[in-house]
Amino acid sequence: MKPWQAEHGGPDGGPTVEHDFSTNASPLGPPAALWQAVQQADRQAYPDPQYGALRRRLGEAHSTDAELLLPTAGGAEGIRRLTLAALLTGHREVWVPQPGFGDYAAAAQALGLAVQPYADPADIRPTASALVWLCEPCNPTGASTTDWPDLDGHLVAIDRAYEPLRLQGDAPALPPKAWQLICPNKALGLTGVRAGYIVAPAADDAWARAQSLAPSWVLSAEGVALLMLWHDDATTSWLADARAQLREWTTTQRAMLTGEDWQQRPSCTNFWLARPPRPDIALRLRERNIRVRDATSFGLPGWVRVSAQPRRAQAALQQALLEIESEDA
Ligand SMILES: Cc1ncc(COP(=O)(O)O)c(C=O)c1O
Repeated sequence: MKPWQAEHGGPDGGPTVEHDFSTNASPLGPPAALWQAVQQADRQAYPDPQYGALRRRLGEAHSTDAELLLPTAGGAEGIRRLTLAALLTGHREVWVPQPGFGDYAAAAQALGLAVQPYADPADIRPTASALVWLCEPCNPTGASTTDWPDLDGHLVAIDRAYEPLRLQGDAPALPPKAWQLICPNKALGLTGVRAGYIVAPAADDAWARAQSLAPSWVLSAEGVALLMLWHDDATTSWLADARAQLREWTTTQRAMLTGEDWQQRPSCTNFWLARPPRPDIALRLRERNIRVRDATSFGLPGWVRVSAQPRRAQAALQQALLEIESEDA
């Protein structure tokens, strides 16, 4: 069997890029107090293996029992763990958004589970006990859904990685009994800190499995520091300001790309899908130390995903596009 790995935006193993439009992470982070706490995290001792104080803090914030809060080494680790817990509790199909974050399918395939892609949540029709991934708002489209199908009896997991980066509209009500996956590092501009958590709906068998499958000290000291301050008032108000800035950059960047003849899809987040007039644009920009996310692996050849970046980066992108156009003229 050949190992297969999901493709991602951000660092790609090549020379460091100067302007990175390929990652969905906010370019604005991190907020000062939270950053200080991360830097001062005690790396000389193990974190509490039960993460008691952290789980109580997160439980309070979500108005639920601390024991239902499961710290993860980032959302990616949470996806793997929940998929394995689903398999071990008798789930045989995994429904994944298409286009969607590649790790849901990768986790299912690695365990030999049947993957069922869906374009619209209304198309989800499990034939067996299923793990259903909903991504709200969705990566890479930035689309939001309010109309959930009735998925009673299935393990429904809602990935809320980009909820804090929702720039338009309100979060829809969650489907009843859904698991939640929370990944704050993107909104905080701290993707190097591998920290997230799962909120389980009940202390059932899948919850017991998901908890038992975690390695000891799954979350680092830095991760604990980040999550301890995630629901702080200072972080919440910093995030509101960050969203206002990202809204402004989204508007100017979209206008610039429209001027360069890029087709663009609507999105409620700081990232969106776009179709440049030249199909090889991702490669051509990469040669100029600018990165956009080629959307071929999302099943969208000819498209790219871009995130809102500061004005200076937008100007550099526009300049590079003009140079490429004149080279090709
Ligand atoms: C939708 C979605 N979920 C989860 C993740 C995992 O993020 P992390 O493991 O950094 O928390 C990502 C990362 O890009 C993502 O796009």
